[in-house]
Amino acid sequence: AVVVHRRMKKSAKWVKAMEIVKDFEIKCSTPISRLRQVADGMIVEMHAGLASEGGSKLKMLVTYVDSLPTGKEKGLFYALDLGGTNFRVLRLQLGGKGHGIINQQFVEVSIPPSLMTGDSSDALFDFIVAKLAKFIAQEGSDFKPTPDRQRELGFTFSFPVVQTSIASGTLLKWTKGFSINEAVGRDVVAELTKAMERHGLDMRVSALVNDTVGTLAGGRFANNDVVAAVILGTGSNAAYVERASAIPKWHGPLPKSGEMVINMEWGNFKSAHLPLSEYDLELDAESLNPGDQIYEKVMSGMYLGEIVRRVLSWLAQEAAFFGDTVPPKLKVPFILGTPAVSAMHQDTSPDLKMVANHMKDIFEISNTSLKMRKVIVHICSIVAARGARLSAAGVLSIMRKMGRDTVKEGEKHRTVIAMDGGLYEHYTEYRKCLENCLHELLGTEVFKTIVLELSRDGSGIGAAILAASHSKYLGSDD
Ligand code: GLC
Repeated sequence: AVVVHRRMKKSAKWVKAMEIVKDFEIKCSTPISRLRQVADGMIVEMHAGLASEGGSKLKMLVTYVDSLPTGKEKGLFYALDLGGTNFRVLRLQLGGKGHGIINQQFVEVSIPPSLMTGDSSDALFDFIVAKLAKFIAQEGSDFKPTPDRQRELGFTFSFPVVQTSIASGTLLKWTKGFSINEAVGRDVVAELTKAMERHGLDMRVSALVNDTVGTLAGGRFANNDVVAAVILGTGSNAAYVERASAIPKWHGPLPKSGEMVINMEWGNFKSAHLPLSEYDLELDAESLNPGDQIYEKVMSGMYLGEIVRRVLSWLAQEAAFFGDTVPPKLKVPFILGTPAVSAMHQDTSPDLKMVANHMKDIFEISNTSLKMRKVIVHICSIVAARGARLSAAGVLSIMRKMGRDTVKEGEKHRTVIAMDGGLYEHYTEYRKCLENCLHELLGTEVFKTIVLELSRDGSGIGAAILAASHSKYLGSDD
């Protein structure tokens, strides 16, 4: 074990610890003025990304989704949702106009970590398709595939992809916990289709979508006022409806709707105004994708726990916060997950029992005093507040880009943003902080016109619905 500052006096250690926490808090601070600078910077990058391919760190990807669901979609469709630590397979029976979703089933499977960072693209796709094949084999009598009609699938693939059509696109790079070099630059639908052929599975991929786009489509299917979607989960990203004429880099035909959904890939946003501490810089340097996804790394579920761990580890090392030796578990990357941060942050028991239990279970640290536990909660709240407030700045920039950040005389619109992801769904303090901050940024009058709507599992459902609207057969009541 590493022995630290044995000779430092107890009071001196505490002073040192408080200094470290204070310094971290200052580096993470997000006053409204700074958030406005972040939003301004993001809008500049949005324009640059729309102007030319590779024009910005914000990819602003054209999704080929130029018409969103109408509610008339009909038939049996499948979806495969890949992007976090789990993937899901869904089947959806759509009833056509006025009937919505008649029936739905899904399975969720966790992906073996070795496949996420392995070197074989085939191994990952074979694993996924094997689960898909199993799911299809269990098709019950509730679901009636039409004879002579190939099964159709919407593929939610939640990574940056440059699409070449609604059902094809090449992977730009991996993000989050994935890294399989071989797959970069390949058409992910072709990879999936080849794996299906290897498994003798006869299925057509009719839509390839990002999770933000699936969430937007699923949200719109249920609610006509949905114009954007934000994911706050393992990673973070947003999609919104843009005017096709405002996308200079789009050289295809102007869609009838005049609109095009844009997948921002906002996770890769970076700006000098982002409040970053040395813990964030080190996390980035040691990550699978150094230099990339900086905005994502300060606000999404994959990283919040890891930031907290890094601060605690520094406290142990520099201020003997947990005693004369550094508890070894504190040195293990990613051992502290964001759900644990959420549980500790939201611990309402007077003696912070939850914090004590988590410190013991995760780090094998059993000697925390109430005073120490309060400091731990404070660190969690600093990290969560920064993330939530920065995501509010992102939402502000979308609202401004869509011209929905003001209320004009006599105009009555509602702006609904479909939200999904475990961080948003389960971390109540984070969600509340985001909403309060958005209120602060937009002012009460405008804030009243917007709704953040949880659209649970919207991404998979939306992909199946987009598979219906892009079906080779008649996929709707029209
Ligand atoms: C990462 C991916 C992005 C996805 C987001 C949320 O940022 O690059 O495509 O939408 O995570 O899952």
